[in-house]
Formats: sequence, C-alpha cells, structure tokens
Amino acid sequence: MKTHRVAVLPGDGIGPEITRAALKVLRVVEERNPVHFDLIQAPFGAQAYFDHGHPFPETTQAICDRADAILKGPVGLDYEATKKIPVDMQPERGAVLPLRARYNTYANFRPIVLPQALAHFSPLRPEIIGDGIDIMLIRELVGGLYFGTKTVGVDADNHRYVEETLRYDEIQIKQILKKGLELAQRRKGVLHNIHKSNVLKSSVLWNEVLEEMAPAYPDVKIVHMLVDAAATHLCLNPRQFDVMVMENMFGDILSDQGGGIIGSLGLMPSACIGDAKAYYEPSHGSAPDIAGRNIANPYSMIGSAAMMLEYSFGMAAEARNIWAAMQAVFADGFSTPDLTQPGVKVETIGTEAFGDKVVAKLRAAPRVA
Ligand code: IPM
Ligand code: MG
Repeated sequence: MKTHRVAVLPGDGIGPEITRAALKVLRVVEERNPVHFDLIQAPFGAQAYFDHGHPFPETTQAICDRADAILKGPVGLDYEATKKIPVDMQPERGAVLPLRARYNTYANFRPIVLPQALAHFSPLRPEIIGDGIDIMLIRELVGGLYFGTKTVGVDADNHRYVEETLRYDEIQIKQILKKGLELAQRRKGVLHNIHKSNVLKSSVLWNEVLEEMAPAYPDVKIVHMLVDAAATHLCLNPRQFDVMVMENMFGDILSDQGGGIIGSLGLMPSACIGDAKAYYEPSHGSAPDIAGRNIANPYSMIGSAAMMLEYSFGMAAEARNIWAAMQAVFADGFSTPDLTQPGVKVETIGTEAFGDKVVAKLRAAPRVA
C-alpha cells in the first residue's frame, strides 16, 4: 500500500464544491487500488486573505512544502469583493503566481480534448470537429511578462506610465521546449512551436534554442506558427494540432481559446509541473456568479485529479478510467446547468449528482491492477 500526501486547496467560488466531487473520486481510486491519499485541506485564495490575512498563508505553504502533490481549486471573488483586497494581496498576484514560483512549476500541460460524447458542447461545426479534438497545449508557466519586473510611475510630463519586462533565458526556454519535444515524441511526432518572432526578440531566442535542440529529436516534425495565426487556426482547423508549446502569456490566452473551441473552460483541467513538485488545477476562474448553487460542472477539477494520478503517482491507467467515467456520464445524456447549450437536449443534474455519477461509473470500471 502506497501513501501519497496531497495538499488540497479548495479555493474560492465554485472551488469547494468541485473539489468535494474530486475528493470523492480519489476515495474510489483508493477502493480500487493499493493506494492511500492523505488529503490535507488548507486555505488559499481571496477568502484565505480575509480569514488569515494572506491569500497564501504560511501554514498553507508549509502543508504544500510537505505534500507529494497539490490539488488546487480556482481562486478569486467578484469585482466588488476583490476591490477590498490590496492589489498585491489579490489572489492571482498574491497566491497563484507565488505558488508557481515557489515550486518552479515551469511546465503547464493543458489538454484541449473534445471526444465524441462532448462534441455537442463545441460551437464548431461537426465537420470541423470530425472524430474529435485532442491537443496538448504546453505553456511555460514561470517566466516572461507575468514574472518580469514591474515599474509604475509618473514621467517628466506628469503622465502616468507602467513598464513591465519580458525576460527569458536560454535555460528556461530549453527546459520547456524539452517537455514539448519529448511529449511530441511519445504522441504523434509533431510539435507546433507557437511564437511571435516577427516582433519579439524573446521569440527569436526561443526559436534559436529550438533549432539547436531539434537535431536531437529527428523523429519530431516541428511546425513554426505565429501566435496570432495560431489563434485563427485553432478555430478553423484544430485537428492539425497535437502538441503545442509556447511562452507564458501566449499559453494563457490560447488555452482559454482552447476552452472556447471545445465549448467551455469548465472542460479544461491542467497540470503544473516542476522538477521537484507539481500541482494540479482547473484552467478556469472561480465563477463567483454561480458559486454555492450546485450547478458548476466538476469535470475540470476531477480531470485535474486524474492528471495528478498520471503525472505524480504513476497511475496513468486509472487516470484514463476517470476520463472515461466522466465522458460516459455525458454520453448517458447528463450535464450540469452551466454547460447546457441552447438546442442541445440533456438532462441537467447538480454538481454533486454529476460527481456521484462519475463515482458510480468508476466503481463499475474494470480494475487496472
Ligand atoms: C490561468 C489563470 C492565471 C494566469 C491567473 C489566475 C493568474 O488565468 O491559470 O490561466 O493568468 O496564469
Ligand atoms: Mg488564464
């Protein structure tokens, strides 16, 4: 029996309810495998600021330091509540980015997956979706503009200005490109390199490093694509992509577009991987407008837990069973109100009921070991 210590940060908004569903799924994984999860919950996010004076309290940091992996829900409150928090203590700047920096989780894997059972969620025409979309978007997560120095001031003409720096060094670029190349090797042998080298020098260096690395990966075909063009191609012909790799801000934006083409950010889990520690989180926000109403779909949170099993605990087969269980619930005609589309006939059920159906499907799946 293996024990894995997991720091669970439910977060704000819909975070706690979708986290509850994910934890139930982990308990079923325990029933089915010689594994035990030591689940330690800790405050993180905007509510943590109000309750403990910091969005990433020291006690939470200590729990995360000791954990084998971290499962994190979305953070943030609505606009008015957020204004009550000092800018640097707001949960994105005060908690999420520091979490990424603390564990140097430089590689962010964001699957954009639309199997047949979910095809009706997509705004794209069936002939564009074909037999489904299956892209792994890899986003560099601890460099670039989001982590550069920031200066705010007033210039000699008394105009307010802001300066933010975009810095990458070759080590940072190399380590994320390595993840992309290796994954492309394991998948279809095609890597889309997303850049903006016609304008940004950071992209020129990025591409130079990739050219230097490429000969060591003769089995990977590299396709270079400008980020603005990639945004269009994701809509017009998403099936040309298999593995995409890009810097931080490009990945932030294109992964949300990925949520758009499959129909919802609610279908976007993610894995944030460092060399020593990894954490797992939905790619979306905390949806304060629907929080606590039992209508948010837990797919992205359960999916993040599945990614944790695969990437941190070597349980890829059981992770696949979880994906299949979720898709089977959709295929049976169920969905939650937040994912319901006009003109699509589904039986709507709550967050909890959806999670329970996933649990039932997983219990019924053949065991791996
Ligand atoms: C994401 C989010 C974050 C980001 C926020 C919450 C800081 O948008 O994970 O995509 O910008 O990286
Ligand atoms: Mg984002």
